Amino acid sequence: MRSSRAWRRPPLLLLLLLLLALGACVFAATREQFCSLCQRHTMCLYSGVSSRCHQGRLVRGVSPAEQQAIVDLTNQLRNRVALGQEWRGSPGRQPPAANMQRVAWDEEVASVAQRWADQCNYSHDSCRNVPDTYVGQNIYQRSQYPVSAMNDRGNWSEPIYAWYDEVALMAASQVSSYQNREDIGHYTQTVWASTNRIGCGYTFYQDGDWGKKYYVCNYAPGGNYVGQPLYQVGSPRSACPASSGDTGTPDPAYPGLCGPASTKTTTTNSNPAASSTPTGAAIPAAAAAAPAAGPRAAGTPAAGTTAAGIPASTPTNVNFGDNTVGGGFPSFTDTGTFSPDYF
Ligand SMILES: *[C@@H]1O[C@H](CO)[C@@H](O)[C@H](O)[C@H]1NC(C)=O
Ligand SMILES: *[C@@H]1O[C@H](CO)[C@@H](O)[C@H](O)[C@H]1NC(C)=O
Repeated sequence: MRSSRAWRRPPLLLLLLLLLALGACVFAATREQFCSLCQRHTMCLYSGVSSRCHQGRLVRGVSPAEQQAIVDLTNQLRNRVALGQEWRGSPGRQPPAANMQRVAWDEEVASVAQRWADQCNYSHDSCRNVPDTYVGQNIYQRSQYPVSAMNDRGNWSEPIYAWYDEVALMAASQVSSYQNREDIGHYTQTVWASTNRIGCGYTFYQDGDWGKKYYVCNYAPGGNYVGQPLYQVGSPRSACPASSGDTGTPDPAYPGLCGPASTKTTTTNSNPAASSTPTGAAIPAAAAAAPAAGPRAAGTPAAGTTAAGIPASTPTNVNFGDNTVGGGFPSFTDTGTFSPDYF
């Protein structure tokens, strides 16, 4: 919006700019604030990129275009479910949602996700909350060989669909009461009704001759509370909470989701956009041994939740069976399931 009037009133404009600048400064919690949320908070434990990431090529960050793609695809899939258009399930069809919110990109949530991705440690961090709420997490890693043949940029459709496609195992009858099942935890977090902020991090790192694309998405407020509904079953948008900012007008792009009228999502980029460290040394000639495949260890079992939905102590939203896939070009090598080969 341009306003020539504003230019004739510099004090107002200056004040506005000053407020914006102040807002940017106080936007994210400080390290001390994160530490006060929980001692083992990712922002409290780690200050930057882990040395384990520095074996060769390193690419990190989520570009503004990728942020938009993540938000759009996540909302598109949520909308599909909310409108009752997801026929898969075990059994399906998934019932429509009365209160599913639209998600928007959140810089603070994203900065925590990036900090965790920067540890090059394919597992869940212990605490990633933001000052106002509990935050959930989905992770995904693609391992490929050889690293020299790999495109080091991420393809966010891959993890987002992998998480969502667990819907094929989702029992429609369990929508009203989340059961702590290892096989659907990513799907349930993806469509958890009250989640309205998402922020993700990405790291491409080298592990010998292998390349790893590590994707981390954090969700606020987090979902997967045992015994609570994923969403309220009912006519789409018939029970939008006031806190969603819904004005009664459906978003044309996502008519099944609750949210403010504007479809605009903020995509300011505090994550480093694809900063890359070139490999100084040549890629080792010898092929790294394929990591031993083994079952991904299950995470922390369910803990109790309070009536308000705040985790009593240990949050239940640690998603299990996190996807890791292998594949490569030109020589395809499937690493199978989780491989702690980089420890
Ligand atoms: C990787 O993260 C897990 C979970 O937070 C932690 O228990 C483990 O110690 C970490 N591994 C290393 C090598 O730091
Ligand atoms: C990205 O991933 C999606 C989902 O797996 C796939 O359909 C698509 O072809 C991929 N895009 C590229 C450019 O590889």
